[in-house]
Amino acid sequence: KNIALVAGGYSGEYVISVQSAAVIEKHIDANLYNVYKIVVTREGWAYTGADGKAVQIDKNDFSLTVNGQKINFDAVFIGIHGTPGEDGRLQGYFEMLGIPYTSCGMVTSAITFNKSYCNKVVAAYNVVNVSKSEHIFRDQTYDTKAILSRLRLPVFVKPSEGGSSIGMSKVNETGELEAAITKAFKEDSQVLIEEFIKGREVTCGLYKVNGELTILPLTEIRSSKEFFDYEAKYTPGVSEEITPAPIPEEAAEKIRKTAAALYDRLNCRGIVRVDFILEDNTANLYFLEVNTMPGQSENSLVPQQVRAAGKTLQEFYGMLIEECLR
Ligand code: DAL
Ligand code: MG
Repeated sequence: KNIALVAGGYSGEYVISVQSAAVIEKHIDANLYNVYKIVVTREGWAYTGADGKAVQIDKNDFSLTVNGQKINFDAVFIGIHGTPGEDGRLQGYFEMLGIPYTSCGMVTSAITFNKSYCNKVVAAYNVVNVSKSEHIFRDQTYDTKAILSRLRLPVFVKPSEGGSSIGMSKVNETGELEAAITKAFKEDSQVLIEEFIKGREVTCGLYKVNGELTILPLTEIRSSKEFFDYEAKYTPGVSEEITPAPIPEEAAEKIRKTAAALYDRLNCRGIVRVDFILEDNTANLYFLEVNTMPGQSENSLVPQQVRAAGKTLQEFYGMLIEECLR
């Protein structure tokens, strides 16, 4: 079968996507699938053959013509974090072309990728706490004093549509808020400001194959930085990632149940990673975010969880491909 592995993308997560795609490409069973890596940038969507020549995708039908031979794809493995691979754009395009792909559908991707809207949708399900937040837009006026009269410091300031903590800040003092908002608006035209919850960060990877949900071992993240920022995420040794998470079984069960409920309510498909904070002292569970294209790089969490579950990445990626073809 011909599989297109799309990588790159238009956001700051380009670099991570290329690293994820390298891991995916390395572990897809070459005896079962012909993998063509397509690097998607604003300049073009290109496949580079063994001869080093770049060939552009025909966007009318997402085909490639290599050495005079036209290649159509049986499925697309989405390996892009951020736009346009995690936010529903490519999902909508492949849906229109009728080409199966490995991620959540268009609507789920679009809702979950925008942290501000996702918080509101998740809060409405009443299955997990969502911290208090404000959603602001670049072309509207906002009043930082008024915001901080409604939210308790510290707060996190995040581009609503982003990932890997790019453009994100933790604000401890009133005077830092404006600069944090300006920084986040460099990444996106919408910004989420949410109350910080002091606790342990725990993340849950899960996927459905043939109607059966598998919940991977949980990971606890202990960052030596002020939070699990870009450096902590991708520099080995800057954060400690412990799988399975050394948390009380009762808390672990609550996390698994909540992640499973959200997977269903949000109509997820394929591998999804849901991040939580387990609040200190109260053990209340807070929702952080849903990642519909969780990182697959050597330093990412899901590959660690898959291995901890006793599976190989080859089995795992093979399952995801077969599931989307079903
Ligand atoms: N956004 C990064 C890639 C992650 O969630 O793993
Ligand atoms: Mg994320």
